[in-house]
Amino acid sequence: MKIKTCAVIGAGTMGSGIAQVAASTSGLNVIMNDIADEFVDKGFNTIIKNLDRLVFRGKLTVAQKGEILGRIRKTTNIEDVGDADFVVEAAIEKLDFKLNIFKDLDKVCKAGVILATNTSSLPITKIAAVTGRPELVIGMHFFNPVPVMKLVEIINGMATSKETFEITRNLAEQFGKTPVEANDSPGFISNRILMPMINEAIYALYEGVGTEEAIDNVMKLGMNHPMGPLELADLIGLDVCLNIMQVLCSSFSDSKYRPCPLLKKYVDAGYLGRKTGKGFFDYSAK
Ligand code: CAA
Repeated sequence: MKIKTCAVIGAGTMGSGIAQVAASTSGLNVIMNDIADEFVDKGFNTIIKNLDRLVFRGKLTVAQKGEILGRIRKTTNIEDVGDADFVVEAAIEKLDFKLNIFKDLDKVCKAGVILATNTSSLPITKIAAVTGRPELVIGMHFFNPVPVMKLVEIINGMATSKETFEITRNLAEQFGKTPVEANDSPGFISNRILMPMINEAIYALYEGVGTEEAIDNVMKLGMNHPMGPLELADLIGLDVCLNIMQVLCSSFSDSKYRPCPLLKKYVDAGYLGRKTGKGFFDYSAK
């Protein structure tokens, strides 16, 4: 089946980024779905803002911006996703929620359509198992900010077919990304490595080894990371970081993944990072 239309479920930070990248790929139509108009509109406005920035910098013409936006169809009706030839789900990271979405997608999507999930740590195999097409379910994990980050981690569930992997890999390349293959294991490759590093940085802060600035500067200036681990945690969202550490800790039954108490405390306080204006750093003035 030739992929002409791609649906993205969830219009948040990741979903809108994926929709932008998909629509910017020549000829691909995008169905952008979320549960309420306000969420779809917010995601669409983020895309407009990003494209405006590209126009301002001379990287895109006004006409090209119009064509990209014209390829995106907004909807809150899951039935509309039935027109898609490929689906990427990027809704909230709650397993029960995702299982329900995949049951619905399995019902409304045409036979043979691949259902990908952008989950950052939930089991692909389990998500696939609630559908009648587990061989067509795969992980397609993008990175924030999606329009900028090159990587797409492609995760094979236990039943994912080779053909599903190849089609997903080709699509990621069509999106201008570099796909890397991983197998289904908690945190896959990316968050198995990244999250314990972030968690350890939070432990270093908790134990008074260094200040926020000192910890981040060590990793930026000594290891050439573009952002320090605490600033990156703020970008990702501290609730997301905590959730992933909890998945690692419970899935491996290994205390080496225990979330730092300070991370829990920040989440309890509602200091979730950039999205709330405060995390390890203050963004209220930005
Ligand atoms: N959306 C679109 N474009 C963006 C953007 C956004 N949110 N943020 C920055 N950009 C673009 C800018 O427009 C700019 O484009 P040009 O080069 O074409 O002018 C470019 O990115 C660089 O931006 P800046 O000059 O403003 O800033 P920078 O050089 O400091 O780079 C950064 C910003 C790309 C975010 C960089 O700091 C970085 O790479 N940080 C690390 C990000 C990272 O590790 N992300 C992965 C998080 S983990 C995850 O997402 C998965 C998970 O499961 C948790």
